[in-house]
Amino acid sequence: RGTFRTMAAAWLLLALLAWPAAITTAARDLLLNVCMDAKHHKREPGPEGQLYGQCALWKDNACCTANTSVEAHQDQSYLYSFNWDHCGAMPEKCKRHFIQDMCLYECSPNLGPWIDQTDISWRKERILYVPLCREDCEQWWEDCQDAVTCKVNWHKGWNWTTGTNQCPQGTMCQKFKYVFPKPATLCEEIWSHSYSYSSYHRGSGRCIQMWFDPVQGNPNVAVAQYYARVAAACPTPPLPMLLLLLLPTLLCLL
Ligand SMILES: *[C@@H]1O[C@H](CO)[C@@H](O)[C@H](O)[C@H]1NC(C)=O
Ligand SMILES: *[C@@H]1O[C@H](CO)[C@@H](O)[C@H](O)[C@H]1NC(C)=O
Repeated sequence: RGTFRTMAAAWLLLALLAWPAAITTAARDLLLNVCMDAKHHKREPGPEGQLYGQCALWKDNACCTANTSVEAHQDQSYLYSFNWDHCGAMPEKCKRHFIQDMCLYECSPNLGPWIDQTDISWRKERILYVPLCREDCEQWWEDCQDAVTCKVNWHKGWNWTTGTNQCPQGTMCQKFKYVFPKPATLCEEIWSHSYSYSSYHRGSGRCIQMWFDPVQGNPNVAVAQYYARVAAACPTPPLPMLLLLLLPTLLCLL
């Protein structure tokens, strides 16, 4: 009888100890291999053999359709009717970074740890503070020095009366280097903090790469795993506290 009680108590204790670990694992997995609930994303990631151009990096596992990948390369595409050339033609070497940024946003299944709820008409979720590798941000800024714009934040404040974005009255078209004095200003401010400028380097496994060589696999899978583990392990003080309270009760059973 005593043995039975001891065993029952031991099992109970084991179950209680396993419980937070199971929750943590479940919380972590919810952040991995997911698509955000936004305007053009698929519900779930999967292979897309026909991804176009710069988006082809994600063809093994993507949140975008082939159609979205084609549209991401077009000016004023049906995706967002956004006009890159609002202050005159954007140089091609600059535009390719905006295309890559859109491919990452639309196609990547590795942005789960940075998905945030938002409350606007055209999407339920957005990304916030994705740590962009410093080289990706710096190259974007370098290649866009000669491009011209009238706004720091491209998410809001445009004049949309013609159906595409125009510079609002009272703004002035200026070179990127005056509008965005540092690489971090560009990457962080342009999409209202969708990205944060990371001090980590490409290949470190601690920052998201907008560009990568798909032959070596998608490096952002491991980055998402790392940050999902951090996110899932940290905000759980209530459970250990609960355990601490339950332990004396359990010990009394023995
Ligand atoms: C993508 O789909 C939209 C909506 O169905 C359509 O209007 C557009 O022409 C398609 N684009 C391509 C490149 O097939
Ligand atoms: C918006 O653009 C239209 C058409 O170009 C113009 O008539 C109007 O004054 C603009 N409004 C603002 C607030 O800039």
